[in-house]
Amino acid sequence: MVGVICGSGLSGLSNCVENQKTVYFHDIPGFPEATVPGHKGELVFGTINGIEVVVMRGRFHYYEGNSMTNVVMPVRCMRLLGVKMLLVTNAAGALNPNFNVGDIGILQDHFGVPIITGNNPLVGPNDNSLGPRFPALSDTYDGKLQELVQECAKDLGFKDIVRPDCTYCFVSGPAYESRAECKFLRNAIGGDMVGMSTIPEIIAAKHVGMKVLGLSLMTNKVVVEKTENTVHASHEEVLAAVQDSGIKVEAIVKKLIDNKVLGDFLDKCPTVEYTPKKQSIMNSLFGELAARDVLTVAGAVIGGMLLNGLFNARRNR
Ligand code: HPA
Repeated sequence: MVGVICGSGLSGLSNCVENQKTVYFHDIPGFPEATVPGHKGELVFGTINGIEVVVMRGRFHYYEGNSMTNVVMPVRCMRLLGVKMLLVTNAAGALNPNFNVGDIGILQDHFGVPIITGNNPLVGPNDNSLGPRFPALSDTYDGKLQELVQECAKDLGFKDIVRPDCTYCFVSGPAYESRAECKFLRNAIGGDMVGMSTIPEIIAAKHVGMKVLGLSLMTNKVVVEKTENTVHASHEEVLAAVQDSGIKVEAIVKKLIDNKVLGDFLDKCPTVEYTPKKQSIMNSLFGELAARDVLTVAGAVIGGMLLNGLFNARRNR
């Protein structure tokens, strides 16, 4: 199964999920609510081109006041549901001066400002049955998936707007960056884009052994010099760019999530361990919540899927 987390205004992909079954976040006790305009809050289960998917419309941001544990909770749920590969999309500001609004960056590395200053989602007790205490992040982004995206982009005629080998800088937000911060991220770090999401989920996905792919839609060029006519970043500008170009990200993702393209890759991914131990894992994951809620969350998501027959013999695909 493939998990997809949709960035701001990039939830259109879920419309092409066949045999949809939707679970709203607010119906899952213990799940935080998505509150940002442009973000819906639901998990859409079904298939795309013969591949089982769970598409998350809307996500939990750190800047909303969510703990990092809550931000990555859906990723850990996805793993327990059998997801082998996580695809994360986002809207980002272009730090690379050669990039244009509407370009799509393929992540090959990241720099997480909040992550290295103590807000790493893996801080806290580690459940070894979920992942290692000290995972290496120097090999987070799967090379094969990056290649496949480039091939899909070429087939779609998007070669010129798709930018490989990008470094994404994660900031906490919610304020857009100062000019000095942008200069630092570009000149000291070599960042290609900056955004307020994605990296916590990607770290959690890598920790639990998922294959990881990240795609960023450039919605604005960051401001490094102030002139009279400078257009400063705004959420409206970001949403407008997503409205114009989000469909291209969705087309690439739809082309990629196809049994003919991804089938072999998924077959070779490590199988998901789905054992009776899931309850104790859920307990450690949702340690911040009351035990009653833990069971209800697990019950709502896993039970709902079992009942709907979506989590069946093919769950390891
Ligand atoms: N900065 C941070 N996050 C963003 C931006 C930006 O310029 N654009 C879209 N998300």
